[in-house]
This record gives sequence, C-alpha cells and structure tokens, in this order.
Amino acid sequence: MKSFLTLLEGSVKEAFEKAGYDAELGSVSKSNRPDLCEFQCNGAMRGAKLYHKAPLMIAEDVCAVLAADARFEFAEAVKPGFINLKVSPEFLTDYVNDMMKDTRFGLEPDPEKKKIMIDYGGPNVAKPLHVGHLRSAVIGESIKRILRYMGNDVLGDIHMGDWGLQMGLIICELKERKPELPYFDESFEGEYPKEAPFTISELEEIYPTASGKANPKQGKDESDEEFAPRKAEGDAYKAKAMECTKRLQDGQRGYRALWDHIMAVSVADMKKNYENLDVDFEYWNGESTVHDRIPAMVKRLKDEGYAHLSEGALVIDVAEESDTKQMPPCMVLKSDGASLYNTTDLATLEMRREQDQPDQVIYVVDKRQSLYFEQIFRAAKKSRIVDDDTDLFFLGFGTVNGKDGKPYKTREGGVMRLSDLIGQIRETMLKKILDNKNAGGSNGEDVGSEAEGMAMAEAEKIANIVALSAIKYGDLSNQAAKDYIFDIDRFTSFEGDTGPYILYTIVRIRSILAKYEKSGKEVAQEMTIASMNSAEEKELALVLSRFGAVAVGAYEELAPHKICAYVYELANACNRFYHSTRILGETDETKQKGYIHLLRLTERVFTTAIDLLGFSAPEKM
Ligand code: ARG
Repeated sequence: MKSFLTLLEGSVKEAFEKAGYDAELGSVSKSNRPDLCEFQCNGAMRGAKLYHKAPLMIAEDVCAVLAADARFEFAEAVKPGFINLKVSPEFLTDYVNDMMKDTRFGLEPDPEKKKIMIDYGGPNVAKPLHVGHLRSAVIGESIKRILRYMGNDVLGDIHMGDWGLQMGLIICELKERKPELPYFDESFEGEYPKEAPFTISELEEIYPTASGKANPKQGKDESDEEFAPRKAEGDAYKAKAMECTKRLQDGQRGYRALWDHIMAVSVADMKKNYENLDVDFEYWNGESTVHDRIPAMVKRLKDEGYAHLSEGALVIDVAEESDTKQMPPCMVLKSDGASLYNTTDLATLEMRREQDQPDQVIYVVDKRQSLYFEQIFRAAKKSRIVDDDTDLFFLGFGTVNGKDGKPYKTREGGVMRLSDLIGQIRETMLKKILDNKNAGGSNGEDVGSEAEGMAMAEAEKIANIVALSAIKYGDLSNQAAKDYIFDIDRFTSFEGDTGPYILYTIVRIRSILAKYEKSGKEVAQEMTIASMNSAEEKELALVLSRFGAVAVGAYEELAPHKICAYVYELANACNRFYHSTRILGETDETKQKGYIHLLRLTERVFTTAIDLLGFSAPEKM
C-alpha cells in the first residue's frame, strides 16, 4: 500500500505532465498554512525558471487539470504560484479504510532489505550505569526497532568496555585488600571458587576507589609540595594496575578467573538495568571478545603496509587532502605494544565482517567521540578491514543536562546513577497515579480505572510503564545530536508534549472501545467508516493517513524525534475529535460505527508508533 502523500503526489505529478510540464515539479508536502489548505505544492515556482513563464500561470494550468481529479476537494492556484490542496473526504475515507486492512498502515517496507548491525549501550563493566548511558540505550533501541519495522535484518551489539585499564585497577585493588585469595597465588593449580569474592555493591565501590588512588586530585588550596608525593604514589599505583591489565590480557590464569567473576556479577546487574529500560541486545560482546584476533590483525596491517611506526607507536595514517580539520593518525598499538580502544574497535569490525557480513554498521555513541570514529572508519576502509561498500555510520548524541544547563548530577553534585534516576521517575509517577485515582481521574474523568479497585501492586506496575514513557519520550523527542535538559517535572506531566500525555490518550481510546463493546453492540472486525462527519474527524483521519510517510522519514534520517512529533500531533487530533464528538452517545449507528472504527485505527497506529519508540501503554491508568 502506498503512503497517502505518495498517492496525492502521483495525482499532482500527472497533472503537471498533462499540462505540459515536467512531472518532477509535482512534489507535495503538508501545508504550512493549515488555515488555508491541507497540502501544498510549490513546483510552479521552480517551473518558472525552466519555462520562462509566470509561476501563477503554471499553477493555474495544473489546477485546471486537477479540477477533474476526484481525489481533491479543491486545488487552488494562489500568488505568487503556490498550489493549495484540500483532499476530498471520500478519498480520505477510502484510504483510511484501506489502512485498517493493511498490517503496516500504508507503509511500504524498504525493498532493499539490508543487514544492519547497531552498536549501542556501550556500558563499562564494574562501573555503574549513569545517566550518560541512557541516551545510547534509548536512542539505539528505538532505531533498531525502526530499522526492523522497515524490513531490515538488524542485530544489536552492546559492545561493553570490559578489557581496559579499569579491569586492571579492580584486580590491583583486590590484590591489596585480599592478597590471600588463590587468584593471586601464581603456584595455585587447583580449582578456583565458584563464588565471586565480592558483591555488585562492593565491586562498584572498588572501582572508583582504585581509580581515585591512581589519579589523586589536587586540592584547591594545596601547595605543590603537598601534592607531589601523592601524585607519585598515584603513579606507582597506576603502574601496578597497568601491570595487572597486561597480565590479565596475557592470560594469567588467576586473573582470568577473577575477570570471569567480575563479568558475571557486573553483567547480571547490567541485564537488570537494561530490562527495566526494555532494551535488549542480540550480542553481549565486548572489547575482550576480539582480544585473540588482535595479533593476526596487527600482523596483516604491518605486512600489507597499512600501518607504520611513528614515535614507537603503530599507526595508520587517515588524513585526506580534502580535510579542513586536522586528522591525526589512528593508533593501533601504543609504544609499549599494548592494544587500546581503537585496536578493539578495528578488530570488532573485522569480526563483524567475518561473522555477519553487515551492509551497514551504526554506532550510537556520545558525539564527543565523533573524531575518534572518523579515524576508525577511515582506517578500517583503507586497510580493508571492511569492504568499500560497507556503510559505517556514526550517530552521535548530545549531553543530558540538568535544569542549570550543566551535565545532569545528583543533588549532592555526584554522578547520577541510571538505576536511581529510573527509581525517582517511577516514584513520581506512582504518586501522580495514586493522586489521580483519589481525585477520580484527571478532569474528574474515568479513563478505565476503578478508583478504589486498583491494588497497590497494580498501581506500581502501571507507574513503571508510564515512567518508561516519560524517560524515553523525554529523551527521544529531542534531536539526538542536541543536548537536552532532563526535567523530571516536565517529563512526568500528563499534559503537554510528554510520554504520559500520549499514554493517557491511548488509554482513553481503549476505555471508549471497551465501553462500546460492553454495551453489547457488535464489533465486527470488518467495519468501515462511511464518511467524514466533522472537521475534527477529518483532521484525525488526515493525521492517521500520514503515518507511513512519517515512519519512512524517521527511517531515512534515523530520527526517532520525528515519530515523537507525530504521536504528539496524533494525540492532539485525537483529543480534539474526542472533545467535539458524541461517540458513545451517538444514536446514528452508521456514524457511531465509523467513529469506533476510526478510534480503533488510531489505537493501532499509536501502539505501533510507541513500540517504535521503545515503550508501550498500560490498559488503564
Ligand atoms: N564504552 C564506551 C564508552 O563508555 C562506549 C562504547 C561505544 N562503542 C564502540 N564500539 N566504541 O565511552
């Protein structure tokens, strides 16, 4: 099924051709003067230069043809040469009826089905997830769902940071605290304990402690003499941690066994966090996954002349003549021979090519890493780690800020843990839902809840669902690349451009549909809308008809915010229709069936759209 806009455009293009002009001039867009028309075409303006003719004359020629087209209620040429369009209610009614029968509501999947890998999440083992990790998870998950909806074969990889210095720091600190553990006894040949020698909370304390020891801070009023010895101590500690990292990576048995424990404890905790966000991954790979393939990769890069030594380090030059900014070489090995973040990313691309042959790899990472990824992409292409036609795409996102415009912090000024943040929003939502119940629903209206009947456990379940919409919508409604302000009060509000407002609207529709069914009226699956009875009904149908085009736009630009803007518009149109129309009280049965049918389609389009954003609606709230 073609999108509504495509059909309209088909008519207009044909009209241009029939009037003797290039059909390509007939592109149509949503009107930016909704008070005058629903759609518009600006092609006559472009045609003026081509045909040396006044744009208004071209527009009039085209409108004369369109006058006979039953798809339009009117097509009007206005100065200086715009074509204003209003679709006929019959054509819209037919389209909406067809949408109901179409599983994708008028959207055609991408005929070029691609294999796409998406690298998102990117948590670091043993460091608690913080609010910065929210964006990668939320944006990545939504993009994954959009890509899939369009018919692509998509695999998500969490790409954990699980192999670098942070692992060495943890092992080093453990060794200081519990040197008696068998992991540190090099002559130990027995079996290591099954139980980890720490819990997740201990682990999360060990890492920052170790990191603090390795990087002592200089106090504000401290003189250099006092800082110098602490700095020396820190350097010595860091050297020990680096040694631990190296031993781990070289495969020392006890260290690997400890690493397994760290991974098991940390990954179990991560899984809980991501589950709470309704985010999941096909691959739980990490930097460590590619460790064993690094030597062969490095050897090839050297042998084939792609990498060379520069001040002791092994690098690949990636600068190009057309560069306007400086593009430093991509380092493959440090001068001490150790591998680094870059090395694991290159080896991961190699593994992805060998195992999954993706057509495209998308990285959803903090935009501050954009230069880094440019280096990686160039190095991978140049050294044939990936094929020329593999599309490597960096989707950089901005920072989550607090109301003060600075990176989001706890009240005490520390880093905000993701789990605490989710907890806070859940709590706020629960309170609002309970308050709402006691007040008999917002606006005194009952949207499907039996006030006293709702048990606490159920209220909590609903609060969690609504909280997720608040978090995800709050994030996704901003363009990914922009920084945004995390404002709990605004995000959790039932009014305005928020997740809870969207869910409230959906629950309202569900409640009407349930009441209609309860009234004993037959709810045939094959219902139709007979006609458009009001401007509000037509407006709702028009917004619905745009779903396909919006989804394609969000897909082509990897832009979930476009779906957010759409569901907000849909919610507004739906609520205007609801407030202006007697639905359950309507006595004309044909009319009423049409309303119910339209609401049912609205509910389905909503459900699909919010699923693309990564959340769902409760049955009542
Ligand atoms: N762990 C990294 C960080 O916290 C993000 C990983 C992004 N993905 C990648 N393939 N490098 O910065």
